Amino acid sequence: MYVRLKGTGQVYAIEGPTRFWDCQPIGSRVRCTEVIAQTWPEKQRILDMVSDEGPWERIEAHEFGKTARAASSLGMELFTQRTELTPKKSVPLAPLTTFGVKASAQWFVEACDVSDVREALTWASTHSQPLTVLGGGSNMLLHQDVEGLVLRIAIKGVELVQEDGEHVQVSAGAGEVWHDFVMHTLDQGWGGLENLSLIPGSVGASPMQNIGAYGVEIKDHFAWLDAVNVADGSLKRFGPEECDFGYRESVFKRGQKDRWVIVRVAFNLQRNAPLRMGYGAIEQELQHVPVSDRTARDVSEAVIRIRQSKLPDPSVVGNAGSFFKNPTVSASVAESLLVTYPDMPHFPQLSGDVKLAAGWLIEQAGWKGVSRGTHGVHDKQALVLVNHGGATGAEVWQLAQDVMASVADKFGVHLEPEVNQIGL
Ligand code: EPU
Repeated sequence: MYVRLKGTGQVYAIEGPTRFWDCQPIGSRVRCTEVIAQTWPEKQRILDMVSDEGPWERIEAHEFGKTARAASSLGMELFTQRTELTPKKSVPLAPLTTFGVKASAQWFVEACDVSDVREALTWASTHSQPLTVLGGGSNMLLHQDVEGLVLRIAIKGVELVQEDGEHVQVSAGAGEVWHDFVMHTLDQGWGGLENLSLIPGSVGASPMQNIGAYGVEIKDHFAWLDAVNVADGSLKRFGPEECDFGYRESVFKRGQKDRWVIVRVAFNLQRNAPLRMGYGAIEQELQHVPVSDRTARDVSEAVIRIRQSKLPDPSVVGNAGSFFKNPTVSASVAESLLVTYPDMPHFPQLSGDVKLAAGWLIEQAGWKGVSRGTHGVHDKQALVLVNHGGATGAEVWQLAQDVMASVADKFGVHLEPEVNQIGL
């Protein structure tokens, strides 16, 4: 029996209850491995694949053969026994996170496919080690060395799932770099993600916090994601409703926190997608381009210029983007603040509440550009905390708490960190 993981080029030949071949295109290569599935979680994987529910679809032998032949025509050894995944000890994490604070993983392993993820889960459970999943490392602050196993998701591959001339659905491995993926979609003429250009991080992390910028959020284009269940290794496809997206929120940060490892995410895109230029700064950036000539690429380039002018480049100055969320207050709180601060940016929400700009509150509290030597508050966007070099997680966290206390003191508004705190 032959199956395909829906929306991907990954195909499988199931030869019996405890044996299958796994063929995965990785970039321009195809890796085919024989899996002897005598133990959990691989046995569970066969049960998943033969079940009529879930993300697997039956295919004909010749379809499996196409992928397998691609492997042999590329001169690769077609079938190789899968090598065992071996975690490394004491691996520095600073280079793998954008904040760049010093910390190391007690154990570290990289997953290039779903099987690697399952093996890592098995390793962590049999060695009684806690698990920390790392994507692009762009939205976390490490407070200390991470105990247990750090699993870095390096699953690659972009696939065209379906196309009807105008609309396309495209999926990407969770380990793809977000910005590179956005550039790839624009190269293909697929619009929709241009406002989200240059956001640091990986594709797999994007739905976790429903990344957003310049009037667009991931949920506006999200189709589905596949995730491995940490408890039993099973694979589940989540639709938009199940992800329960909110402002920088999803079910993966709330009720289902730490229960799933996201391995692939798919998006609905469009060839002539309407451009979204409502966010003031974009319109200003594009003034010189006649409205009828504007393309998704122009919007992307405008977003890149705006971001580069305000946000520090993590490859130069360590940071994790906005450290805090923009807070929401009741209409009456907003009204009384506006009496004292008539220029305060405020954004009424459908719920009746009012969203405030954390960057403005922090700037007014006197923190913009404040430096404490190794770290500080960015001088062009007060919402971003930076590591000038050599800061520890504890130092950055102390600064965050001081900022929060002073905003609470001046405005009576509670700020909430947007960045994930690891090991706090
Ligand atoms: N503002 C200040 N001082 C500052 C920063 C901002 O007065 O230091 C004011 C601005 O003048 C403006 C308002 O605050 O009136 C909003 O500022 P901006 O448009 O820069 O956006 P933001 O609310 O500060 C959010 C996202 C960013 C995203 C931008 C653009 C959050 C937590 N942050 O910032 O996302 O790039 O909008 O869409 O929602 C990220 O999540 O890492 C991130 C950078």
